[in-house]
Amino acid sequence: MPLRVRVCDRDQIADGELRGFAVHGVTWPVMVTIVDGAIIAFPGVCPHDDVSLVDYGELDGMEVTCRVHGYRFDLATGKCEHVPALHLRRYKVTEVGREIWVDLL
Ligand code: FES
Repeated sequence: MPLRVRVCDRDQIADGELRGFAVHGVTWPVMVTIVDGAIIAFPGVCPHDDVSLVDYGELDGMEVTCRVHGYRFDLATGKCEHVPALHLRRYKVTEVGREIWVDLL
C-alpha cells in the first residue's frame, strides 16, 4: 500500500514553475511542477550532493538543473545526463479534486 500524502492544491502550482512544499515528517520538500499539462513531483534534494532543489533547482522544459554543479536531470526518466549513475526519483501523482497527492513510497 503506497504512503500517499497531500502536498498542495492545484492552484498553488503553475506550468513551467518549480515549487517546493514541506510535508510533515519528510526531510526534504516535495517539488511540484506542471510541464505540458502533466503534473510532475520529485524530492527537493539533488541526488548528487544533498543540496536543496528549492534553492538550487532550475526548471527548463522537461529538465531540472541543479545550479551547484550544473547537472541536469530529465523529469520524464529521472536520468542525469552528466552522470548516468545518478537518478532523480519521481513521485507518482494523484489529483483528488483540487488537491495534489504524491506517493512517497
Ligand atoms: S549538488 Fe547538485 S549537481 Fe552537484
